[in-house]
Amino acid sequence: MTAADRSADLAAEAAAARRDLRTLRDVFRWAASRFGAADLVFGHGATNGLDEAAYIVLEGLNLPVDRLEIFLDARLTPAERDRLVGLVVARIETRKPAAYLLGRTYIQGVPFRVDARTIVPRSFIGELLMTGLVGEGGLIDDPGAIGRVLDLCTGGGSLAILAARVFPNARVDAVDVSADALAVARQNVEEHGLEDRVRLIEGDLFAPLGRARYDLIIANPPYVTAAAVAAFPPEYAAEPVLAHLGGQDGLDIVRRILAGAIGYVEKDGALICEVGTGRAALEQAFPQTPFLWLDTQESEGEVFLLPAEALPTAPPRRPAPERPKRPRAGRA
Ligand SMILES: C[S@@+](CC[C@H](N)C(=O)[O-])C[C@H]1O[C@@H](n2cnc3c(N)ncnc32)[C@H](O)[C@@H]1O
Repeated sequence: MTAADRSADLAAEAAAARRDLRTLRDVFRWAASRFGAADLVFGHGATNGLDEAAYIVLEGLNLPVDRLEIFLDARLTPAERDRLVGLVVARIETRKPAAYLLGRTYIQGVPFRVDARTIVPRSFIGELLMTGLVGEGGLIDDPGAIGRVLDLCTGGGSLAILAARVFPNARVDAVDVSADALAVARQNVEEHGLEDRVRLIEGDLFAPLGRARYDLIIANPPYVTAAAVAAFPPEYAAEPVLAHLGGQDGLDIVRRILAGAIGYVEKDGALICEVGTGRAALEQAFPQTPFLWLDTQESEGEVFLLPAEALPTAPPRRPAPERPKRPRAGRA
């Protein structure tokens, strides 16, 4: 079937849906079927078509996104039906993440505005901050003692905002090199009423920070290899490439954060950084560094913590340049 045929089929399906569907359950089921039949990629909040359908029908009607069950039998007005069917069609035809179509996403139930000027926030550091890392029994047992936090590569500001919520006495500096991303962050900081505690700073990593020192540095930097970025499906390609691209082995920015952090962290402070699938390459590049890997419900070995005294001070090993491969004699 050609793309034009698929598009015509979807238009006919959508017209029937607008005419025949009645309840939220009907539209949810139809959306799940359409997502199942389409070649979509998930990973921006939902990990499968069912969850994506639930998110679209609930957020699309300004309902709580975790309360599908109680609304399933509610009848929809024609305008509501039109809106939801339009969102489902847009998700399939544009291949944009649902969060961009709806303008909002959630981390641990906390809402954030989002649009294509910044990546859809989904850092595991958000999960860590909200569950287990902080408070009794966590690695940071007294959240009130954290006075200054730095969020490097803040994007739309989600981690800076979560940090301000979790550390009630902290002032948070949030740095990003993208003015576009910071414009979204500004909206989020205002909506969360945190203008007096979260400072947004445009610049390259530590460069704009002067002599500041922090109790905690958090970072979810770009960490995707150039090869993986080049092969991105449309949903990921819809996000700013600057938010993903970490160079040949994905670790260009992570290396710079590791090299610079020692100059900006307090003596008893720490760095927490997400590296995606870069763990093995990182441990190879920094063989002397005792990374503490923090697992979450949804991730394993993707986020490390280093206390100040364990931060590297020497320049890291660079990856060996790729040599052209010599053809090997023997079996073809
Ligand atoms: C993976 S996104 C993370 C955004 C946000 N922290 C989150 O978790 O949703 C990486 C961010 O790093 C920013 N960035 C890339 N290079 C940077 C640099 N040299 N200095 C500061 N920020 C940078 C990008 O603009 C992007 O917003």
